[in-house]
Amino acid sequence: MTVTWGQGGPDLLVALDREAGSLGSQIQDQLRQAIRDQRLSPGERLPSTRRLAELLGIARGTVVEVYEQLLAEGYVESAVGSGTRVAVIPSPGAMAQRASRVPSAPTSSPRPVDFEYGIPDLRSVPLTDWSWAISKATQTLPTAQLGDEDAAGSRHLRDVITAYHRRVRAGCATAEDAVVVSGFRQGLTFALATLARHGIRRIALEDPGPREHDLIAQRAGMEPVPVPVDDQGLNVDRLRESGARAVLLTPAHQCPTGVALGPSRRRDLIAWADQVDGVIVEDDYDAEFRYDRQPVGSLQGLNSARVIALGSVSKTLAPAIRLGWVLAPPQFLHGIVKEKHLSSRGAPGLDQEALALLMETGRFDRHLRRVREIYRARRDVLADEVAHAFGPGRLQGLAAGCHAMLLLPTGSSERAVAQAAASRGVRVNPLGHYRFQTEDAEPLPPALVLGFGNVTEQEIRRGIRGIAEATRG
Ligand SMILES: Cc1ncc(COP(=O)(O)O)c(C=O)c1O
Repeated sequence: MTVTWGQGGPDLLVALDREAGSLGSQIQDQLRQAIRDQRLSPGERLPSTRRLAELLGIARGTVVEVYEQLLAEGYVESAVGSGTRVAVIPSPGAMAQRASRVPSAPTSSPRPVDFEYGIPDLRSVPLTDWSWAISKATQTLPTAQLGDEDAAGSRHLRDVITAYHRRVRAGCATAEDAVVVSGFRQGLTFALATLARHGIRRIALEDPGPREHDLIAQRAGMEPVPVPVDDQGLNVDRLRESGARAVLLTPAHQCPTGVALGPSRRRDLIAWADQVDGVIVEDDYDAEFRYDRQPVGSLQGLNSARVIALGSVSKTLAPAIRLGWVLAPPQFLHGIVKEKHLSSRGAPGLDQEALALLMETGRFDRHLRRVREIYRARRDVLADEVAHAFGPGRLQGLAAGCHAMLLLPTGSSERAVAQAAASRGVRVNPLGHYRFQTEDAEPLPPALVLGFGNVTEQEIRRGIRGIAEATRG
């Protein structure tokens, strides 16, 4: 059984296995670990014994014993009237370094709420697993592989990534089709430079979408042209009219509107690519987080001859790991490897080996299962809070990923609301931030983009209330 608590307290996932011995010891171990690795910060208040017992469906006496034990060991403190709080633990060695990186104990003014798009839960990064994997990599990587890498990247990682992509994303690539890169953006840079060398000069980009990609396309020598996105994703009829022979899109969860590309649009898109001898560049950035059903498969599995699929662990693990992949049809693969080879001598070999080990031992999947529940709980709180503050039907794109779009009341200025929210300690991006800047751009309703990957449930509540106040002026 798994429970996330967060009602008025910190969020934490507690998993109990009723077949696996003492429930009290299981809770104790998980709380100790959460306090040690700072998922519960000093000063944070734990739920009352009654509340936690209710949430976990166990006897209150068991929770009382757990708290008493943790109190005796110095992990928590308790004072009359203020309940049980996480203690400040003297932190030896690595703990000390780690502690200095995490937010300090709450002060009287709460920390600002940051709905920045695209950041995963940094407090859930599986550092213990990562340090296991790095240590294992240093012990097992053959000496010969401590030199410069194969230009396409570690063969081991390419095998593991493509097996993962086939299993989880319904792709059909093998290691021969894959290039390891330092994240999506680097892969995009290499892919677009290669397409430009193949004479593809115009690329369609989603509007709204991340505007840095316009600049990356221009630097590759391509002309970026906007194609509108609606509630079915990219408008393929408008893509046809654009004259582009390449398109970059986010089919599993559009960035930033959150819609998934509709089934008939997926077929139309593939047909378009065949008709114009075109290329689809698929940004598969957060497809693993789908809440209502299995994620839709990667377009690469539908037509591997026309799709360049780009993936990364920036959302699933952490941006700091900075590894990603390009899966490309044979005619582009050599060019992409060449771009990579001329721009650097590759990605760090030990990190590539560590990622391969993390994925093939099931630790990566286990981490995804754990964070998916955290995001699901945050998403539910977001939906409730928005429904309460703004009424029903105002949130779009909640079926997947870690961001959603809040449709503001008609007539509001999204920029003014974002500014007013900032003055209340809530940072959020207006949808306009993602618009292609042309005079004839089609107007979209006022909206804000809410990234909820790296904000706690408490912060979500506070943030939405702040935005609601900002909307009222
Ligand atoms: C739309 C989109 N795709 C992909 C990524 C991942 O990029 P990278 O792997 O370079 O961190 C991001 C990161 O925020 C993103 O917003």
